[in-house]
Amino acid sequence: MSALAPRALWSLDEDVCFLNHGSFGATPRSVMAAQRRFQDQLEAEPVRFFVRELPGLVRAAAAEIAAFVGADPEGLVFVDNATTGVNAVLASVRLPRDAVVLCLSHVYNAVAQSLHHHGGRGGWRVVHVNLPRAPLTEIGVLSAFDAALARHKPSLVVVDHIVSAAGVVLPIDALVRRAKATGARVLVDAAHTPGQARLNVRELGADWVVGNLHKWLFAPKGAAFLAVAPDQRAELHPTVISHGYRQGLAAEFDFTGTRDVSAWLAAPAGLTFWRSLGGEALMAANQAQARRFRQRLVEAVPGAVAACEEAMVGAMAAIVLPAAFGEPSFARALALHDRLFDEFGVEVPVSFLDGALWLRVSAQAYVEDADLERLINALGQLLR
Ligand SMILES: Cc1ncc(COP(=O)(O)O)c(C=O)c1O
Repeated sequence: MSALAPRALWSLDEDVCFLNHGSFGATPRSVMAAQRRFQDQLEAEPVRFFVRELPGLVRAAAAEIAAFVGADPEGLVFVDNATTGVNAVLASVRLPRDAVVLCLSHVYNAVAQSLHHHGGRGGWRVVHVNLPRAPLTEIGVLSAFDAALARHKPSLVVVDHIVSAAGVVLPIDALVRRAKATGARVLVDAAHTPGQARLNVRELGADWVVGNLHKWLFAPKGAAFLAVAPDQRAELHPTVISHGYRQGLAAEFDFTGTRDVSAWLAAPAGLTFWRSLGGEALMAANQAQARRFRQRLVEAVPGAVAACEEAMVGAMAAIVLPAAFGEPSFARALALHDRLFDEFGVEVPVSFLDGALWLRVSAQAYVEDADLERLINALGQLLR
């Protein structure tokens, strides 16, 4: 099938078969133009911009994003990316020494490192819940999670909505509900969610939700949100302390020193672009494409295993590669990625996780069936 939207709406390199929207997104030209207009506004009169205009502009943009993700605008701030949001929470939260902090075995590596760092300083015990092997099922994930909650009695749970390497949408409402029922505080890493899957922060009921806007919502790079439950707001501080210290969330997060926050201001332009491609209908189209792609991959790559049951597919389709692609390791994953890119011009992530090699394809409006066939052909050539 041909693409839903012309690729010329993005600046993507014509020579690359781009099947990795998931890692960093791809910002449309119109959104980059909106970002440039804010940069021009700044440089036209820097003092007027920072002192008079910026506070209102940031709050107006935050209110639009809050409405989109179903959050209280007073409890939503921009951060540069999900990593920054996670670090702000982990650096701020007060936990007793020896407190247990639970995360999943599929945790994103940057988040795992942040847990390692802040956990080390706080004397926490960071426990990884081993998720079952592929194909993941909702029941399998929930029973591993329940067993870990009962066994470890965590004070804090860090849980992904959509796991990175496997690209799987987890049953986040149930995970949050179960963790909260034990009395734990919950940080949801929704890095991949805005624009890929439905999210309502209020209904979710987590203590903190962090989500990237530069992936699936088409914002410029450096735009993410952190939504904070009312009773966590006083304790939370940004990773950089500035003039607004202890003057409320917005005062603390909206200005962390002189810098270019045009990506935040242009995040609503990303939302407008997402809506222009159909919004919810785009999410459904991406999900349909991802489901077709994984079916085709499993058929075309002998021995490949789908990452999860079909109900857990969002806009990404992942498979576990068979033994024919070599002994799983970080080096092997990197080598496979590099060969696919260098020899075949295919940009697709290959990860090493839980002892396996995962290959993940992103659906998106500019992706065509021919792109997937190019990948399948390349995988076939690698096995020759
Ligand atoms: C689950 C998850 N968490 C966090 C991140 C970090 O995102 P960023 O690099 O924008 O901070 C990613 C990035 O892909 C991710 O997949």
